Amino acid sequence: MQNIEWSTLPFGYLPTNYNVRCYYRNGKWGEIEVSSETTINIHMAATCLHYGQEAFEGLKAFRGEDGKVRIFRLEENAKRLQSSCDGIMMPQFPIEKFEEAMKKCVQLNADFIPPYGSGASLYLRPLIIGTGIRVGVSPADEYLFLVFATPVGPYFKGGFQANPYVITRKYDRAAPLGTGTYKVGGNYAASMRPHMEACQGGKYACEFYLDAKEKCYIDEAGAANFFAIKDNTYITPLSTSILPSITNKSLMFLAEKMGMKVERRPIHVDELATFEEAGACGTAAVISPISRIDDLENNKSYVFGDGKPGPQSEKLYNKLRGIQCGTEPDEYGWITMVEGC
Ligand code: PLP
Ligand code: COI
Repeated sequence: MQNIEWSTLPFGYLPTNYNVRCYYRNGKWGEIEVSSETTINIHMAATCLHYGQEAFEGLKAFRGEDGKVRIFRLEENAKRLQSSCDGIMMPQFPIEKFEEAMKKCVQLNADFIPPYGSGASLYLRPLIIGTGIRVGVSPADEYLFLVFATPVGPYFKGGFQANPYVITRKYDRAAPLGTGTYKVGGNYAASMRPHMEACQGGKYACEFYLDAKEKCYIDEAGAANFFAIKDNTYITPLSTSILPSITNKSLMFLAEKMGMKVERRPIHVDELATFEEAGACGTAAVISPISRIDDLENNKSYVFGDGKPGPQSEKLYNKLRGIQCGTEPDEYGWITMVEGC
C-alpha cells in the first residue's frame, strides 16, 4: 500500500506502476501487453493528432469493507467504447479483451487502490487512438488501445456536497446529430472554452448545455448527466446529443427499485423551478448534488432544497456506493471482482 493521503486526493493524475496496451495492425487486435512507460511513440501524421480519432472511457475499481476489489459495470463501459469506435470509424475493441485489460491494470497497480472508507477509488482510463498515417481525412489503419490507472478523489468540490452550476447559452457542446453520444476527445475540447468562461475560475462547479437546436431544453453538463427529483419521480433528459451515462442508467434502475417513478424526456429550462432536488451524475461525479443553477443571460436562478443534498439523492447515493463497495449485494450483475489484489 502506498503512503498517500487518500482522503484528500483530488481528481487528478498520480503516477502508478503499469499501464496495459494493445495494438491493432493488419486488420486485427494483438495480445494485451504490459508497459511501465508513461509515454507513447507515435507518427506525426497519426490520425489522432490531426483529425481527432480518439475515444476514451472512465470506470472505477473500489476496495470494499471485505478487502475485495470490485470494478463497477465494466461491460457497459466496454460496449460504450465500441459504440464510440463505430461513431468515429475505429475498429471495435473486443469486450473480453477489455475485461482482461481492466483486470490486469487493477492487479498490477493494486498498491494504489484506495482503502475502503477513504472516499477515493482507483480510476481506470482506457482510450483508443488512431496511430496510422493519413494526411487526407480518412480513418487510420493502425490503432493503439491503452488503459492506465490512477487513484482519485471527488471530481466536484466536496464530493457528496451541493454546489452551484451555471447554464451556458453562448456555446453548444454537441449538435443534435453530432458526436455527443460518443465519448470522443473532440467533445471535451469543445467544452473547454465554455467551461472556462461559464465557471469563472471555480465560482460554479460545471456548466450545463442546452439542446443546440431550440436552446430551451437541458442537455447535460460538461462532464456529467443531469437528473432531478420531484413528486417521487426521477427525471432525466432524453436527447440525441448527450452521453448515455452508465451512472445515470444505474440510478434510473435503482430509483425504480426504490419505488420512484422514472421519466426520461426533454426537460424545459422553466421546469427547473419545480424540482425538489437536482444533481449531476457520472463515474467521476458519482452523484454531485446541485444547490442552484444560474441562468445568467436570463437573470434567473433556480434553487434546489436548503443547500444540502436532498433525501432522495442521498438514498440513491448510498445505494450506489454500497453496491460499488460491496456493502450492498450485487443483485444485478454490475460488479466484476478482481482477484489477487
Ligand atoms: N456526460 C459526460 C459528458 C461525461 O463526460 C460523463 C463521464 O463519463 C458522463 C456524462 C457520465 O457518464 P458515466 O456515468 O458513464 O461515467
Ligand atoms: C468520467 O466520469 O469518467 C469522465 O470521463 C468525466 C470527465 C473526467 C471527463
